[in-house]
Amino acid sequence: MSNKLKVVVSRDLGPDVMPLLLDNKELDVVVWPHNSVCDRKWLLENAAGASGILVMLSEKLDAELFDAAGPSLRVVSTMSVGYEHADLKELAKRNIRFGYTPDVLTDAVADLSIMLALMAGRNTKETTEIVQSGQWPNFVWSPFAFCGPQLSTTSTSPKRTAGFIGFGRIAQATLARLVPFGFQHCLYAANPSTPADPAADAALAAKYGVRELRRVLLAELASESDVVFVLAPGGPATYHIVDEKFLRAMKRSAVLVNTARGTLVDSDALAKALHEGWLYGAGIDVVEGEPKIGADHPLVKAPRCVVLPHIGSATTDTRIGMATLAANNLLGGLFGKDMPAELNTSR
Ligand code: GLV
Repeated sequence: MSNKLKVVVSRDLGPDVMPLLLDNKELDVVVWPHNSVCDRKWLLENAAGASGILVMLSEKLDAELFDAAGPSLRVVSTMSVGYEHADLKELAKRNIRFGYTPDVLTDAVADLSIMLALMAGRNTKETTEIVQSGQWPNFVWSPFAFCGPQLSTTSTSPKRTAGFIGFGRIAQATLARLVPFGFQHCLYAANPSTPADPAADAALAAKYGVRELRRVLLAELASESDVVFVLAPGGPATYHIVDEKFLRAMKRSAVLVNTARGTLVDSDALAKALHEGWLYGAGIDVVEGEPKIGADHPLVKAPRCVVLPHIGSATTDTRIGMATLAANNLLGGLFGKDMPAELNTSR
């Protein structure tokens, strides 16, 4: 019998990163051989006797998988910053270490959040469709055609307020990008179980150079913000936090951006809101039920709603960074060393 440690990897991590695992003589590496979501049955069968498992967001990390692996399992590593696909209690109970990929994707997701705010506000959904379908000749340049709200401040509209649902690393990186657009006011809503900290807010206001930075309730965030960024974790605590009530309270000129998880936004309510003009537009990178989102999905059909297929972290550098971090987390956990980004699952 081989005394190598078996590791199962649910997707090929590419030529820059796979050698970290494949060239390690102490490992026996089993990789899902297709460029598609790893089949659950294959994963359960191949997990038997594994010491480490490296997965994507699409793989459920639950008792069934840990049982299939058996007592040899020391570490699970996910190539994602989100971990709502992982049963943290089960991991903690079994003393299985768990790694994820924070920080390396912060800038890529913040960039995309700004891009979606611009795309939604300038109605690139309708305008690019006009060009793509050859209809531009029917639309002569005219004074107020296709006008939407401007992201940056103007002389007639000098105040801009950004609202953040969740105010972690990506939200703060997004705020830093908004300051040069003239945003001086920042409101955020946070997990109600964490205490407010006005001194920390004052320090963040000074750090980002904004006049106002305050934690508020959702109602105030909805009614005061020119752009609302949804950037909180998924899971039951945030399910449909953006619902009909929230959307009805938004400014008619405002834009909603979701680059977190689809479950935070009630898609039907948002589609209705866009049809009825409760807000101006939406930029959506994540949709509840993805990737099963067809052309007939209410948000795909909704006016002024730009929908992208979950590409927040999809830059080559960032994905190589995430894959490298996921591989190094796996190696750290396998050999009882520090993992560069280990989550404390017993909190
Ligand atoms: C992507 O959504 C991630 O969690 O990394």
